[in-house]
Amino acid sequence: MLNQSIIMFRYCILKNVNPCEMQLSNGSLIVLFLSSAYGSSNSLLFTAVADLIHYFHTPTRVSVLSCWNNSERFEFWRAINTVRGPAKAIALNFDDENPNLLPWNDHNQQHNLIVVDTACPKSWQLLRESGQLLYYRVKWIIVNRNGLECDKFLDFFQDLQVLISNEIYFLCESPNLDSFSIRQVYRYSLETELIMELFGSWSHGMIVNQQANTVNAVRRRNLNHFKLRASVAVAVNESRKHLDDYQDKHIDSSSKLSYLQTRYVVQNLNATVQYSYHNSWGYWNSSIGQYTGMIGDLVSGQSDISASVLFVTADRIKAVDYVPMGIKTRATLIFRSPKLSITDNVFLLPFEGSVWLCIVSFIILSAVFLLIIMLVELRYTSVPYPDDFRPTIFDTIMNMFGASCQQGSYLEPNSLPARCLIILSVVILMFLYASYSANIVALIQSPSNKIRTLQDLIDSPLTAGALDNVYYKHYITHENEPIRKELYERKMKKYTPFVELEEGVRKIRQGLYAFFVEQALCYKVISETFQEDEKCDLREIDYLDWTHPHYVSRKNFSFGEMFRHELFKLREFGIEVREYGMIYSKKPKCTGSNSFVPVSLMDVWPAMLCLGWGFGFSAGLLLLELLLSHVRKRQLSRKVSGTFFRKSIK
Ligand SMILES: *[C@@H]1O[C@H](CO)[C@@H](O)[C@H](O)[C@H]1NC(C)=O
Ligand SMILES: *[C@@H]1O[C@H](CO)[C@@H](O)[C@H](O)[C@H]1NC(C)=O
Ligand SMILES: *[C@@H]1O[C@H](CO)[C@@H](O)[C@H](O)[C@H]1NC(C)=O
Repeated sequence: MLNQSIIMFRYCILKNVNPCEMQLSNGSLIVLFLSSAYGSSNSLLFTAVADLIHYFHTPTRVSVLSCWNNSERFEFWRAINTVRGPAKAIALNFDDENPNLLPWNDHNQQHNLIVVDTACPKSWQLLRESGQLLYYRVKWIIVNRNGLECDKFLDFFQDLQVLISNEIYFLCESPNLDSFSIRQVYRYSLETELIMELFGSWSHGMIVNQQANTVNAVRRRNLNHFKLRASVAVAVNESRKHLDDYQDKHIDSSSKLSYLQTRYVVQNLNATVQYSYHNSWGYWNSSIGQYTGMIGDLVSGQSDISASVLFVTADRIKAVDYVPMGIKTRATLIFRSPKLSITDNVFLLPFEGSVWLCIVSFIILSAVFLLIIMLVELRYTSVPYPDDFRPTIFDTIMNMFGASCQQGSYLEPNSLPARCLIILSVVILMFLYASYSANIVALIQSPSNKIRTLQDLIDSPLTAGALDNVYYKHYITHENEPIRKELYERKMKKYTPFVELEEGVRKIRQGLYAFFVEQALCYKVISETFQEDEKCDLREIDYLDWTHPHYVSRKNFSFGEMFRHELFKLREFGIEVREYGMIYSKKPKCTGSNSFVPVSLMDVWPAMLCLGWGFGFSAGLLLLELLLSHVRKRQLSRKVSGTFFRKSIK
């Protein structure tokens, strides 16, 4: 009998069903034991709460902040720890209603679940003081031990910040016996009415979820024409009139694109929007001690979201919340790649180093062979050789060198071995010569691919400049990274570093100039002004590893998650790409094939240099020879006069 009762008892604990008390009442010992555990009327409520917590399927730290006495706490603890299904990682702690115990600084706020009992006197105050935690990340379950009317709960929430992103659940009465209805509540702002949602119901250990969609930000998406406030920042006043008509789209492009996207988001949320306009994106103004422009609006709470994207900077992160969704704007250095002859010596390029080595060794080797043949023939045969051709290594090398430069051989080979050698060399060198000159012609016409990094740019003869714009000026002149700093010092500072768009594009067109500018902006002007073939050799180098500009919302904005959801949807549905394509100009396609480029002095510079050195060298030699002969003459005349003098003395 006792055995059976214990088994029953364990079953009851496991299943945590109330009728158990009745079945076991014949064992007095057990009844006593049970009455301490199951005695209160709250056990059903506690079981329901425990089931709800298990239902969330997330590792959770449950804090019960209440005025419960020890037996109630024990009862709740037991309800939680009664394992239903696989064990969940749940940590449970009890405390009184002290706002300092809320997970203010927890890095994993989303793992917190707080249970509050409205029957406790300080619960309202606790919720009142929980501020942002009430609607941000932390889950709440609100119960009332003393009353279960749903309307009473609504009264309780009347003045609380149960904003739209909250995850507050409360358990109240349900028409069925031994069951609760689980509800949620939210409001758009403190001024609007509370909206109640039915999450589901609990009965006999079962949670029936009646929500088709459990994600708040998706489910509560219909804002019923709630008015949001958005700030727009444009650099040029005229842009305010053309935010959505695709006119002058190269001016304030990012603002125009983000304005359009914000409009779609607001439409999708069934909200309305009121825009305020600014001329600046905003920064910390230390003289007046507050933020200016659009950020100023967001900080002071006059505006909810930014309809213009802005760059991420450290001080802005403190002031506003960034929505992790940006617009791809790319500011790069754009330039026309210079001719190959500017970055390389085209006369050396046609052959690889090893081929050059082979050619030189071939010339020397054949010169040596020729020398051997000549020496042997001179000695053992009577083959006539011209008088001015001496059988020395220098003469044979000169001969082979002349042959390799297609100047012919000035040795008329008379014997078979010499002829063989000369013919062989001339044929081989002809092939080399043909491929060399064919290559040179192509190389002189082709653009260089050498400039790929900032360092290449610094080493090249190109100069650089940037668009005359507050941001670029700030970033470029304050750059501390060595390479970028060097680029600024060496390539920009000495010339005009900041120029207007048209001027910059004109300079790109002239060549040997890299312009730092927003790509779309530049490409629009380029596609309007460049000739077809000039578009072909456009190149880009990334200058700053910026993050893209992002949307922001005011701090602790409860619609933030929704805003982000909708923006992501715009991206996933391809609307962002479409608008991006409408506003941002792409890199112009190169259709015209490269037209003819006349050869300039620059292209043959190495050859000229060679010639110059040659002239200089021979002139130097001439001078040296003149000097030498002069000295010799002097010595000779001195000798002569010396002998004459001695003779006369004799
Ligand atoms: C936003 O919430 C944080 C954390 O709860 C709080 O410290 C901060 O003051 C709130 N900011 C605003 C503007 O309400
Ligand atoms: C948008 O909100 C209005 C006002 O509450 C409502 O009448 C309308 O049905 C809503 N539209 C959608 C698509 O839900
Ligand atoms: C743009 O408009 C604002 C006021 O709306 C004015 O203060 C500012 O001077 C204007 N800027 C230009 C460039 O016209």
